Amino acid sequence: LENTYILSIESSCDDTAAAVLENSRILSNVVATQKIHEEYGGVVPELASRAHQQNIVPVVDQALKKAKIDKSQLNAIAFTRGPGLMGSLLVGTSFAKSLALALDIPLIEVNHMQAHLLAHFIDDASHRKPNFPFLGITLSGGHTQIVKVDDYFSMEVIGETLDDAVGEAYDKCGKMLGLDYPAGPIVDKLAQKGNPKAFEFPVPNVKDLNFSFSGLKTAVMYFLEKKQKENQDFIKENLNDLCASFQFTVVKIIKKKLEKAVKQTQIREVAIGGGVSANSAIRTMLQKQEKNKKWICHIPKFEYTTDNAAMIGIVGYYKFLNGQFTDVKTSAKARYHI
Ligand code: KG4
Ligand code: ZN
Repeated sequence: LENTYILSIESSCDDTAAAVLENSRILSNVVATQKIHEEYGGVVPELASRAHQQNIVPVVDQALKKAKIDKSQLNAIAFTRGPGLMGSLLVGTSFAKSLALALDIPLIEVNHMQAHLLAHFIDDASHRKPNFPFLGITLSGGHTQIVKVDDYFSMEVIGETLDDAVGEAYDKCGKMLGLDYPAGPIVDKLAQKGNPKAFEFPVPNVKDLNFSFSGLKTAVMYFLEKKQKENQDFIKENLNDLCASFQFTVVKIIKKKLEKAVKQTQIREVAIGGGVSANSAIRTMLQKQEKNKKWICHIPKFEYTTDNAAMIGIVGYYKFLNGQFTDVKTSAKARYHI
């Protein structure tokens, strides 16, 4: 059987990414992270699409070069159709369409949230693949979902956030603590030096398998306001403990919901995805659950957790095998459910 070479493109938010796959193996995985948003404390959509426009050609060139693959060897182009920021998605979508037309090869659209979960099927000797059905949990800056994954393309969202995404909670609370954007990784790092029991924040009572993080954000805000009235330097003096206590609460919320989901579905296999799955405390919690024989846990390699094109490519590969191609008349889809 001949090898299949797929070029994949991801541009849904603020990372411009391209990857080349040989079947389910990653030959290259290039990400250009846009620094411009740091100054604004969040992603500015207009600036994101402009930066994608500048980055896309060099990023794709680099992915091909690193893979030592010539454009003429490609069998298909996979791209993120949504969900995401419209102006950002349009850059990747237009580029993928044009290249597929120019090379006269099939085009394959990919749902970004499905890709975060199917990233677990990237070929890698050090990573064990999940068995169907499994529970996927996507934790990112824009989404927080529990997904019942029955097969590659048969999945159902069984719980999700009713307000802020978990990464958004990290970024917003981090901002209140005076940290740069994106604050998630910084909070995580400081939390490891703090006492998780120093302060107590409320765990919300949310129905079913849904989440809510806006209450935690407000609780942190009022708590900081009150404490800062008593002591102006409160944040500075307690930064590590504040981060640790916030992170402890987040992990408690996620663990509680996953326990409920496992009980409800009787599925014990759990796979995480999305930028926040890089979080050390979430990883430790999952490893502990596995060690205690509660769940079988799948934690992606670090480079496949935050937005990347390798995960788009693996979905593209499975769709290629199924002959699920996309007409070049397709367009980006900002709201795109799993
Ligand atoms: O999946 P992702 O790269 O982009 C979206 O699709 O949103 O996720 C980005 C989010 C940001 O909110 C960032 O602060 C958060 O992931 N994040 C983390 C960590 N690394 C990234 N949050 C907590 N702990 C981390 N180690
Ligand atoms: Zn993402």
